[in-house]
Amino acid sequence: MDKVRFGIIGCGVIAPWHARSIVDIEEAELLACCDIIRERAEKLAEEFGVPRVYTNHKELLADPDIDAVCICTPSGLHGPIAIDAAHAGKHIMCEKPIEITLPKIDATIQACREAGVKLGVIFQRRTSPVWHKIKETIEAGKLGKMVLGDAYLKYYRSQEYYDSGEWRGTWELDGGGALMNQGVHMVDILRWIMGPVESVYALADHLVRRIEVEDTACAVIKWKSGAFGVLQGTTSVTPGMPHRLEFHGELGSILTEGERIVKWAVPGEEEPSMEQKVQIGSSESDPKSIATEGHRIQIRDLCYAIREDREPMVTGEEARKAVEIILAVYESARTGRPVYL
Ligand SMILES: NC(=O)c1ccc[n+]([C@@H]2O[C@H](COP(=O)([O-])OP(=O)(O)OC[C@H]3O[C@@H](n4cnc5c(N)ncnc54)[C@H](O)[C@@H]3O)[C@@H](O)[C@H]2O)c1
Repeated sequence: MDKVRFGIIGCGVIAPWHARSIVDIEEAELLACCDIIRERAEKLAEEFGVPRVYTNHKELLADPDIDAVCICTPSGLHGPIAIDAAHAGKHIMCEKPIEITLPKIDATIQACREAGVKLGVIFQRRTSPVWHKIKETIEAGKLGKMVLGDAYLKYYRSQEYYDSGEWRGTWELDGGGALMNQGVHMVDILRWIMGPVESVYALADHLVRRIEVEDTACAVIKWKSGAFGVLQGTTSVTPGMPHRLEFHGELGSILTEGERIVKWAVPGEEEPSMEQKVQIGSSESDPKSIATEGHRIQIRDLCYAIREDREPMVTGEEARKAVEIILAVYESARTGRPVYL
């Protein structure tokens, strides 16, 4: 099969995960890097032997040799760049969160559908087998009627982390903090397993960091299934802790820490030996402590989605769901009222 020829737009912290993944798989080739700061694009290009460098994403998109782009810019720029890419007929692998408002997400999804290009969104934790096993078990009704579905995301990010990029911690480009940036992965996993949310009632504020957005949020969730839940997200506790997701039904419970099952109480079923095939990494205190494997799996999946003309592993519509919940948390915190989705 022909290789999918990629360009990376935005050459900051996360870009090397995309570059490494593309270079490592035989289905893809890395042809170009683009950053508004030329030295960043040049540095990434040099590190991974990439032949072309651009400083304007529209120039990269005009390159006829490029089939697909990885969008690794600040979150609030994902949409406009993805829409330009769709208009240029390029397939897209967009970093999380897909965008930071629902109208921008919807416009992005629509542009990709109209242009007939594939839109995949990075949620690398979805590649971890542990969540697939839990989802399957709960969907098979093995915990009975669900009672609680909770996520505790107690991470640490320093003030220096927030000061390391002008966009970090701003409403305009980060779109939120502990939940929209760091927590979005596990909000996605929780939603993916528990199903749709009916309502949220929340507190969110910056308690410690000098940022516009929240460094701490607590929400009470009512799931459409009738179950209740708690969502806590922070980037201001010391030390950062592995995230915990907890699922309780009338018949049993499954508790996790990091990507590990720490309690498996499922009637009639032995605890699965979840040999951790996919290394995802923790990132509870350091955004760089994630493995490349999840990105590699998703980027390879996008290559096959293009070839087989099928949906990628995480579509724009899927990626929208976690953002919708997080925006409802913010609205509830702002208004002091429950928000119905
Ligand atoms: N999947 C993950 O675990 C993970 C981890 C970290 C970051 N991310 C996501 O990746 C994105 C980038 O985060 P980061 O930490 O790498 O940020 P960063 O600030 O380190 O890098 C962003 C880069 O984009 C460049 N840029 C800005 N506007 C541009 C434009 N119009 N065209 C081209 N380049 C432009 C900046 O100069 C910068 O080099 C965010 O959406 C973030 O949420 C995902």
